[in-house]
Order: sequence, then structure tokens, then C-alpha cells
Amino acid sequence: MQGRRLATTDELIAIVSPDSDETLARLAEWTDERGMDLSTVDVGDDIGDVYDENRATLGVTLGGDGTFLEGIKTFSPRNIPQLGVNTGTLAFLARVEPEDLADALDETLRGRAAVDSRQQIHVDAPGVDATGINDVMIQQVPPENPIDRKVTRLDVYADEEYVGEFEGTGLAVSTPTGSTGISLSASGPVHYPVNNHTLQIVPLHTHKLGVRPIVVSPETELRIVTQGQASLLVDGGRAHTILTADDEIAVTGADQLAHVVRTSYDDHFFTAITKKLGWDVRDAEVPDEKRLENRSPTRSGTTGESTGFVERALTVATEAAQAAGEPLRELHGQVESVHHKTDKSDIVTEADHQADRIITTVVRNEFPNHNLFSEESTRQRGTDSDYTWVIDPLDGTGNFAHGNPNYSISIALIETGEPVLGVVYVPETDELFTGIADGGAWRDGDPIETTDRDALDESMLISGYDPDGTFLSHFYQESRGVRRLGSAALNLCYLASGSADAVWEHDTYPWDIAAGLVIAREAGARITDEAGEAFCFSLETDGRTALLGSNGPLHPALLEHMEDGVPALTQSEGEA
Ligand code: IPD
Ligand code: CA
Ligand code: CA
Repeated sequence: MQGRRLATTDELIAIVSPDSDETLARLAEWTDERGMDLSTVDVGDDIGDVYDENRATLGVTLGGDGTFLEGIKTFSPRNIPQLGVNTGTLAFLARVEPEDLADALDETLRGRAAVDSRQQIHVDAPGVDATGINDVMIQQVPPENPIDRKVTRLDVYADEEYVGEFEGTGLAVSTPTGSTGISLSASGPVHYPVNNHTLQIVPLHTHKLGVRPIVVSPETELRIVTQGQASLLVDGGRAHTILTADDEIAVTGADQLAHVVRTSYDDHFFTAITKKLGWDVRDAEVPDEKRLENRSPTRSGTTGESTGFVERALTVATEAAQAAGEPLRELHGQVESVHHKTDKSDIVTEADHQADRIITTVVRNEFPNHNLFSEESTRQRGTDSDYTWVIDPLDGTGNFAHGNPNYSISIALIETGEPVLGVVYVPETDELFTGIADGGAWRDGDPIETTDRDALDESMLISGYDPDGTFLSHFYQESRGVRRLGSAALNLCYLASGSADAVWEHDTYPWDIAAGLVIAREAGARITDEAGEAFCFSLETDGRTALLGSNGPLHPALLEHMEDGVPALTQSEGEA
């Protein structure tokens, strides 16, 4: 997976370099035709006056890589995804050409573009506190007399351990994005930047044969101490200062990632370095026989099956769930630090709606004829299609509202009434559960199956909503434990993957369990109602039903104990 989907865009803000008038006119025409708002600012100007944080904004830069870097400074602190259009000459970061602008934006609007997160670098030194996306250079200051000494010495520490003395012109610490810049020209390695969160130290014009580039994690605290005067430049001088002897420079990975939009109109990484940097071991166009998709007819990633409708649907559901996970993770972090109930519920409502909007946009764009049935928005049925997507954009709202990580996103595809595909994504752990009817069930791509325990006193049970505690009181003493975790979709995935032997839900809505049903059944679970009759999935009533799921062998013992114990179903208010 190369990055999340970008699903919603309400408005565009463009940072425009001089000499980009023609491209700006194309952009204005494109937004006009679609009735979208476009605000423009010159390079270096703030977007504070035109940016509305409640709208889904796409940042666009029109210019070369310099403008792109300005865009990063402006957009990344606001978490705005950024698309770079190249009106410059040799752009490496701004990769969409002006003639592809409209198509690239259409793709983005349709939820087909991806957003890659890029590692940034943070520098704290006397007079500089800055974040960059490329690199930090610490170098000698040219001597007044050109024949005077031209080297500098820098002492480098990593997490308090002394790395050594770097002697030469200086050193660069670069991100994967910056690895193809100054660090490349100093013989540093090229980093494949997708999901690559590392930093590297590269000596510049070193006089020592033994010193090599070093790769560190973004958490590593690098400390660089000057032995004499030195200049410090962040991203080629976007922040800079002159340091004196014994100054300390703290360098580490920035918490703030940059979000870069990638469309099919961008060159992929190795194509870009082939065209622009002379990468010599392939041609710019990959010959047909070298294309991976032509080598193995059964490649499809998650299931190993040939690519067909269900696999495409699985990919779309997975991407939609992972895209929706991003705002949920962000908002979940805010919930934990909010103390007033009203604010909290605002965030939770916002979370439900943002996730819902992303999922429904992605699914609707990919399958415009299918029905959508979401807890939070649409119950659009009645089209001719046999297919209905059933969505719970946030299952486990109660947990979410209390800062508990046990919540999930549930997306299922129903074919003529039967759930045939399920995706449950857990944003906080980045776990992905998937299932295809008659195809299998997987966690993060690995097959899963239920346990085979048949003794109640060895079993671990999960209870969903249990209004008067009957399930708990009947099974707590009889089993190894009854857990109450708070997300019905996830409960079924735990049954499927063997972390529980059975689950009980006193009443559920179809969106709580549609995806989990496919996953659990495919992993070998038996799912019935409270009386042991096969569980009947239905969208017809929107009503709540009871569900007893187990690994199979445990089912008789569970039913036996339930006979007197569990209260008759009522249309009780469920919990959030
Ligand atoms: C709830 C959760 C919970 C279950 C409730 C559901 P929500 O869904 O799945 O575990 O016991 O019955 O309503 O409201 O968080 O989407
Ligand atoms: Ca739910
Ligand atoms: Ca929900």
C-alpha cells in the first residue's frame, strides 16, 4: 500500500510563482467548470486569510521545486495535502505537467489520487527553529582569504553516543525526499521515499576514506557541535544562520509529516530518477516483459486470487477504510485532550461524519450504480443493482469518545441480501481484517482462522451490549473470562482471528456486523441467533437482532447455558 486515498475536496488554494499565468488560467477554468472555490496567493504570502479549516482543502503549487517547498511550509502544518504542478524547468518534487493539470485534478476529485506521507526534519540551533522536507546543511564559512583553511570540524552525537568528528566542508542530514539532492551529490544513497521515515547523515567533501553515510530513525536525536564558525541552511537556505564555535544543533525527524498527492500523471519514483537524474539501470519506459503485472497472472496482493470484481471491491473498500482512518486517528488524539463534554461530542460527531464522507465518496465514485447503506448518512436503496455497501464509519463510538483505542471502521458489500465481502480497519493499531465469501479471511493479508476449543471452562468470550449483565453473570464463572470491548465489528474479527472463542451481541444493527460476519464465517465461525438458528442478515427492518458467534465446537455448550440465562430481546436503547 503506497499511501492513503484522498477522498474529499471542497476548495483549492494555489500558491503561484511568477510566470505561471497560463497554468493559473487553466486551474481557474477547471475550478469554474466544477463550481469549486479557488483562492490564490503569491509565493511567500500567508494563506491565513483564505483558509477555512472546516473545509476539505487541496493545496496546489504552480511553479518549480522552490514553490513546492514553499507549499510544504504552508500546507503541511495545516495537514493540507499538496499537489505540485511544474511550471519550472527541472522539477523533481512538482511532478504534474501543466497539460495534465485538469486530468490530475479530476482524478483527485474522484477520490482516485493517493496521499503519501513524507518525513520532514526538525532543526533547533541558536537563532533557528525550523522544519524542512529536504535537508539541513552545516558547512564551513568561506574564508576571507581564499587560500586560508577551508574545512570545518563537527562533532556528531546520536542519542548521546559520540559518533565521531566529521572533517571536511561539513555535513548534510537529509530526509528520504532530500536524498536525491545535496546528499546524492555527496555520494549518499538514494532513498525510495514512499512510507520511508528515516534520516541520513552524509559527510560533505570529507577528507577521510573511512567515513560513510549513516541512516538513522526519525526518533534519533542527533546533536552536532561546531568546532568553529559554520553556516546552517535548512532546505537550501529557507531558514539559515551563522554559528560560532561550540554551538549545538539538535536535529531530529519532525512530528509533522508532509502530505503529498500522487496521481497517475506523476512519474513513479524510479521513472522520475531515470528521466531526471540519469538512473542508468533501466530505460524511462519499462518494456512490457519487465512489467510485474505481465509476469504473474495471479498477482493481486491481498488474496492471491486473480483480479476480478470482488478483488477490485476489496481494494476499494480497503482504501476507503484506510483513508477514513486518518481523520479518525487525528480526532481521536484531540478527544483525549478535551475535558468538556460538549466539545468532545462535537469531535465525535465530526469524526463520524468525516469518516462517512470519505467512505461514501470513494465507494460512490468507484461503483456509482451500487446502493449505499450507511449508519451516518444514506440509506440509498432501490436502484436496480444487486449490490449494497453497508457502512459503519466508526464502530465503538463510546470508546472513541473516551480516548480508548478500541474502535473500528466497518465496510461490507452485500450481494442480493448476503454479505459477500467485509473490511474492518482498526486505525489505532493499523490492523486490517478482510474477508471474501468462499474466498477466505485475512488479517493484514495473512489467513486467519478460529480456535477449535470446545471446553467452556477453557474459553475466552466477548460480550457486546448486555443490558442487565445476564451474559456476564452466566458465563463469567464458567469460562476463562468474559471481555466487554466495545466494537461489535471488531469483536467478530477477534473471534475470526482466534483471540476469542465466542462473541455475544444482545442486539446489533446490520452495519455493526455486516463486515465482521463475512470475516468470522470465512475464518470458520458459526453464527446463530440466541436460539441456535442460523443467523439471518437483513437490511429490511433496520432493526436490532441478537447474535451468537463461536468457533463452532463451543456452540452447543454456549446454547445450553444460554437457555435460562439471557433475557428475551427487547427493543432497548443500545449504547454508543
Ligand atoms: C455500537 C458498538 C457496540 C455495540 C452497540 C453498537 P456504534 O456501535 O458496536 O459495541 O454494543 O450495540 O451500537 O454506535 O459505536 O457505531
Ligand atoms: Ca456500530
Ligand atoms: Ca457507528
